[in-house]
Formats: sequence, C-alpha cells, structure tokens
Amino acid sequence: MGNSILTLLLIHTIFFNYYYCISSEPSFVGVNIGTDVSNLLSPSHLLSFLQFHKITQIRIYDANPEILTALSHTNISVIITLPNNQLLAIASSNTTAATWIYRNVVAYYPQTLISAISVGDEVLTTVPSSAPLILPAIQSLYSALVASNLHQHVKISTPHAASVILEPFPPSQAYFNQTLLPYILPLLQFLSRTGSPLMMNLYPYYVVVERKGVIPVDNALFKPLTPDKEMVDPNTLLHYENVLDAMVDAAYFSMKNLNVTDVVVLVTESGWPSKGDAKEEPYATKDNADTYNSNLIKHVFDHSGTPLHPEITSSVYIYELFNEDLKSPPVSEANWGLFHGNTTPAYLLHVSGIGSFMANDTTNQTYCIAMDGFDSKMLQAALDWACGPGQANCSEIQPGQSCYQPNNVKNHASYAFDSYFQIQAKTPGSCDFKGAAMITTTDPSHGSCIFPGSKKVSKKTKQMVNSTKSTSDGDKLRITTFSSFKISVVNNILHIFLAVCFPTLLLVI
Ligand SMILES: *[C@@H]1O[C@H](CO)[C@@H](O)[C@H](O)[C@H]1NC(C)=O
Ligand SMILES: *[C@@H]1O[C@H](CO)[C@@H](O)[C@H](O)[C@H]1NC(C)=O
Ligand SMILES: *[C@@H]1O[C@H](CO)[C@@H](O)[C@H](O)[C@H]1NC(C)=O
Ligand SMILES: *[C@@H]1O[C@H](CO)[C@@H](O)[C@H](O)[C@H]1NC(C)=O
Ligand SMILES: *[C@@H]1O[C@H](CO)[C@@H](O)[C@H](O)[C@H]1NC(C)=O
Ligand SMILES: *[C@@H]1O[C@H](CO)[C@@H](O)[C@H](O)[C@H]1NC(C)=O
Ligand SMILES: *[C@@H]1O[C@H](CO)[C@@H](O)[C@H](O)[C@H]1NC(C)=O
Ligand SMILES: *[C@@H]1O[C@H](CO)[C@@H](O)[C@H](O)[C@H]1NC(C)=O
Repeated sequence: MGNSILTLLLIHTIFFNYYYCISSEPSFVGVNIGTDVSNLLSPSHLLSFLQFHKITQIRIYDANPEILTALSHTNISVIITLPNNQLLAIASSNTTAATWIYRNVVAYYPQTLISAISVGDEVLTTVPSSAPLILPAIQSLYSALVASNLHQHVKISTPHAASVILEPFPPSQAYFNQTLLPYILPLLQFLSRTGSPLMMNLYPYYVVVERKGVIPVDNALFKPLTPDKEMVDPNTLLHYENVLDAMVDAAYFSMKNLNVTDVVVLVTESGWPSKGDAKEEPYATKDNADTYNSNLIKHVFDHSGTPLHPEITSSVYIYELFNEDLKSPPVSEANWGLFHGNTTPAYLLHVSGIGSFMANDTTNQTYCIAMDGFDSKMLQAALDWACGPGQANCSEIQPGQSCYQPNNVKNHASYAFDSYFQIQAKTPGSCDFKGAAMITTTDPSHGSCIFPGSKKVSKKTKQMVNSTKSTSDGDKLRITTFSSFKISVVNNILHIFLAVCFPTLLLVI
C-alpha cells in the first residue's frame, strides 16, 4: 500500500517534471513603463491601473524600490534594468554586483516576481565604448544570482537594437554586424548555457521610415496582403505576412550562423507612435498606432510563432504604456504610449476576442470609475463628496434603484465618479478624486444599471420612482441623496478621513 502510493507519487513527479521541461512558458504581451512623464502615477495608482487592464508583465528602466514594493504579492512580473551608467561599477567589482543583486532582487523576491534583469539597454549601439563591459557585468550579476540560488527564476540578458543585425530582409541572409562579434558571440554562448533569452528591441515602424517605399506600411501593420505583395524569402521560400516576424527570424538566422540554435528571442520593445511631426513623420498617426499595437497583441495571442519557428511565439513588451511627454523632439518621441500619463487612452485599441488583456477598448466613449483595491474609507469619502458638493447625480445608487446592487462602496463610488465626470464634460482633472478614480473605455454598465455616458438602454422598463426622487428639482434631489449617505457612513474614523481629505465637506455637514 505504502509502496504503491510512493510509486504513484514518483510517476506523478516524473510526468510533471517531464511536462514542465518540454512545455515552454506561454507567450505574453507586456508593457514598458518609462518615467519621462510630467504627471507620473504613484506606484499604488500604477498598480491598480495595471490590474484593471489585466497587465501581468512589465519592464522598467531601473529598479525603482517603490514600484518593486507596490508589486509585491501581486501576479505582475517585472523585468528590472541595470542602467547603462552603472555597467562599469558592476563589471569591475564582484562585490558591487553582489550588493546590487542583494538590494534590487533578493530584497524583493519572491514577494515581487522579478522575471529578468536587463543589463543595460542597447549598449552596443548607443554606448559602444561600454561594449566590453556587458559580459563581465552579466557574469558577475549571474554569479551573485547563483549564490542566492535565484538563477533559475531570474533570467539575465541585455536588449539590443535591431541594427546589430545586418541585411535582415530576406531573413535567411541576416547576420550580426561582424565588428560586434567579439561581444555578441560570447554573450550568445552565455545565454545558451543559462537558458536566457536574446532580448531585441524591434520596430517595424523604423523599418518603414528608413526604407520608404521598399517595405509597404501595410506589411509592417500586420494587414493582410495579396500574395503578390507578400515577402517571400527566396532561400527558404517562407512567406512573411508581417515585418515583425521577419525581424524575429532574422535574429534566429543570425544566431544560427554562429551555431547558436537554442536561444529564444524575447522582444523587449516594439510599438508605434500615435503622433509625429506633420511633415517629417507621416507614419506616426493614431490609426497606424492603433492598427499596429492591436494587431501585434492579437498576433502574440494567436501563438502561431514565425514562419521559421512556428513552435516558438516570442513574447513582446509594447513600447510603451504611457506617453513620455517630457521627451525631446522629434514629436514622435513623446507619443509612443497607449495612454497619456493621466491614464486617459491615447487611442483605442481593437483587441476584443483575445481574452481580458486590454479588452473592450473598442469605443471612443470614456467613463470614470473607482480604482480596484483603493482604501474603502477614502473611497467612501470621495463618494460622499461627489454626491454632495460635487453635485453628481446619485439617484440611481439609492436603495431600490437600478445601480444600488451590488451594494458596496466601490460600485457606488464608480457610479458617482462617472456621473461627476460626464457632468463636468470629462474636463482634465474631473476623474481624479485624489487618485481613487481612473478613466476607462469599458462601459461599466451592468444589467439594468446604465452608467452616465453609456449609450446602452436599460432592458428593464423604468420603475415608477418614489415621489421624493421623481422631483425635477435637482438641488433638492442632491441634498436628499447626500443626507442619506451621510447617515449611512458617519463614524469617527470617517470623520478623520473627511477632515484630512475633504475639509470643506465637514463644513457642509
Ligand atoms: C495569481 O495567480 C494565481 C494562479 O495563477 C491565482 O490563484 C491568484 O488568485 C492570483 N492572484 C491575484 C492577486 O490575482
Ligand atoms: C569575479 O569572480 C570571478 C570568479 O567567481 C572571477 O573570475 C572574476 O575575475 C571576478 N571579477 C572581478 C572583477 O573581480
Ligand atoms: C557595425 O558596427 C560598427 C561598430 O559599432 C559600426 O561602426 C558600423 O557602422 C556597423 N556596420 C554597419 C553596416 O552598420
Ligand atoms: C559553426 O559550425 C561550423 C560547422 O561545424 C563551423 O565550420 C563554424 O566555424 C562554426 N562557427 C562558429 C562561429 O562557431
Ligand atoms: C468585455 O465586453 C464583453 C461584452 O460586453 C463582456 O462580456 C466582458 O466581460 C468584457 N470584458 C472586460 C474585461 O470588461
Ligand atoms: C466617437 O464616435 C462617434 C460615433 O461613434 C463619432 O461620431 C465621433 O466623431 C467619435 N469621436 C472621436 C473623438 O473619435
Ligand atoms: C417611497 O417612499 C415612502 C416613504 O418615503 C416609502 O414608504 C415607500 O416604501 C417608498 N416606495 C418605494 C417603491 O421605494
Ligand atoms: C439623475 O439621473 C436619473 C437617472 O438617470 C434621471 O432620471 C434624472 O433626471 C437625473 N437628475 C438630474 C437632476 O439630472
């Protein structure tokens, strides 16, 4: 009896491990988060925003302790970065490297899921003089990871610009710039030994810009092409339906030329700017950005790999989550974001049908709702302000009305925030509530509860409303509404919050 259980366990373990080994991690879409933003979200606000959009993979350009702390005990994985200007210190001292790993990885893992360390960014092309530092820095950081037994969990690599690969079209003729081989070859051997990915920043946008007329913009935007316009690799006869797949395969062919065949490509950056200089940057438009990023997301979620490697779908981090409005010209530099810094969408993605990631961003209507996970007393205070001095129309969240259920602060606050936001004609700042609110393009209406601004029509025939509520006297209505909330929530703790957050409200009470 005991033996057979043991056998079962053993079989289970073997099978599980086998399965674990052959199944590569499913591919995903993540986002890059840059910080040249004038109204940067607080880390807790950022966290709610990521959770709302079901974003579970992010990459940051440093190892910001507040962000790493905010991400703890969440399902959001993060790639942290060792900035280029720290390469020398890390490459020249194992002790400094160990300290860096201790402070930025060991101190957070596993509460915060650090998936990888990006050692510098585009070093070979932006700071060529630091090229000799890359591998030593990676090796000393890796030794420190090994010493902490984290090397199986935290991958280490360095992102390259696409320009390290020459002649990428057709992909089978691509090769790494020979001048860079003394750095690239040992790096690839390290990646192969440690099961780490080759990180590539791949921008079909720049391919179109630099090869005007040669590469059709539709091919870069993943739009279906007629067979005669499809790119066919004359050596392999593989058909390329989009530029990104060709760039990824160019990386695989370049590695194969160096006999490296077991390193996977991870696209650490890709995206499209939604605005540019009217004369100089004609491809940087909202339509193109929407088409590129929506199709990119759908392409990754298709899991169909590339023509050369249909079995491997590279994960992609979109560049980038927020417009970095503080970036210097050209205009496009400040317009790569899916959202403005204040969480308003820069444009609306069309990604329905792929699951919950960035879902339902298919209309141009915007709503204002309560953040997930926000302190409920703060939310209640904001709700009271909206329905009181804010003069939102809160009649629908009164007991018995269509939006009363579910009867909780978050639901009621969402309705009140949205009412306020729509009444204020969505002016900037009208969806803030001290960080408790966020803008969304997903219609929050549910069942017979129709949110302000929604074009939906209630299925339920409008009930006869109570006489006190059917008054057309707006002011009277608001005061009634406000008092009922006051009675339901006033207690000592709330008063303290009110005093801190909305001192004027206490005067009204
Ligand atoms: C994280 O993911 C696990 C399994 O995928 C799930 O059980 C858990 O509820 C998730 N936690 C959060 C906070 O989403
Ligand atoms: C770091 O340690 C490794 C061995 O663990 C050694 O080969 C290397 O020279 C050391 N680097 C420095 C800069 O001390
Ligand atoms: C290859 O890299 C070297 C060193 O960075 C650079 O000077 C050269 O222009 C590159 N070659 C091409 C064709 O881009
Ligand atoms: C790759 O392998 C071939 C054949 O074994 C060999 O001729 C070539 O030198 C190798 N290239 C490198 C960069 O190791
Ligand atoms: C998106 O909309 C559909 C249909 O309206 C709904 O069923 C789904 O729950 C929505 N998804 C999200 C993430 O809001
Ligand atoms: C929003 O959509 C409506 C029709 O659905 C259209 O008339 C309007 O121009 C759009 N507004 C913007 C800013 O795209
Ligand atoms: C209307 O209000 C009166 C008193 O204010 C109350 O007795 C009655 O139950 C209410 N009716 C409904 C339908 O809510
Ligand atoms: C408040 O909202 C209700 C339900 O949408 C509506 O019937 C009523 O006219 C609104 N009141 C005011 C003052 O706008």
